[in-house]
Amino acid sequence: MVIVDRPIDTKSLSQQRYSQLAQRYVQSATHAAGEDLERLFTMGDPQPEWHVLDVATGGGHTALRFAPHVAHMTVSDFSSSMLAAAEKHLRSQNITNAEYQLADAESLPFPDETYDLVTCRLATHHFPNPFRFVAEAHRVLKRGKYLLIQDHYAPEDAQTAEYLDAFESLRDPSHGRTIPESEWIQGFSQAGFTVVAKETLLKRHDLSSWAKRQDCSDEVICRLDVMLTRGPKAAIQWYQPRSLGSQEASFANPNLIIKGQKHQPVDAM
Ligand SMILES: C[S@@+](CC[C@H](N)C(=O)[O-])C[C@H]1O[C@@H](n2cnc3c(N)ncnc32)[C@H](O)[C@@H]1O
Repeated sequence: MVIVDRPIDTKSLSQQRYSQLAQRYVQSATHAAGEDLERLFTMGDPQPEWHVLDVATGGGHTALRFAPHVAHMTVSDFSSSMLAAAEKHLRSQNITNAEYQLADAESLPFPDETYDLVTCRLATHHFPNPFRFVAEAHRVLKRGKYLLIQDHYAPEDAQTAEYLDAFESLRDPSHGRTIPESEWIQGFSQAGFTVVAKETLLKRHDLSSWAKRQDCSDEVICRLDVMLTRGPKAAIQWYQPRSLGSQEASFANPNLIIKGQKHQPVDAM
């Protein structure tokens, strides 16, 4: 796994954009609930004595799902307005076992071997170096404990993946890169995790509300629609668009949930 710095500063752009969109992400139905969040929760298998860290919390929906089932939750994001919105959201839902911490996923401000579970949902495609985050998660996890990531993932064919990244970037210029499953598995292994569970699922998005959450104009929504209408066959097969050219246009984003266990010391195995 080569860690490369990308030439475009998508990190600052993402921080700037999300700071302006905080309330939309608190209110977003697709983030607040769904089969994906339930699968993530089940795979996370939270335990009452656990200390859990949620990275890139956005509106706080993953933290809210896990917090009532664990001893302590650290809720983090690198946008202060997003973090403030998540705090308000969790407090309004009577979550009292959480603390809120500004944190860049690629440079976590937490001590080594602190957490039992690190979660990160629908955010790694923004990180310029997602495997730097995986390495940081490995550092802050106790030995034998778990990293749980959910995000949309890319087809293995690089050309198709590039086309889909262009589609994502048109909607959100702070989009970084979507990673194929094989690269996730390799990256987990190289960081010192054993992949103990993984699942894929489809998350269908209404094109218009998905684009409007990122402030896209009608013109951009039209271009996104055209990209799905005229795109390469493999890209269309990957996203399975429906009702293009209408208000009901939608596409299905394949998501991967991957759970890694930090290696135990040899004498503990
Ligand atoms: C789509 S939202 C996350 C959704 C949320 N995890 C959930 O389950 O609803 C993406 C979040 O990633 C955050 N983010 C992007 N890059 C980050 C980074 N390098 N470090 C920390 N947070 C980051 C953004 O500020 C934004 O709040």
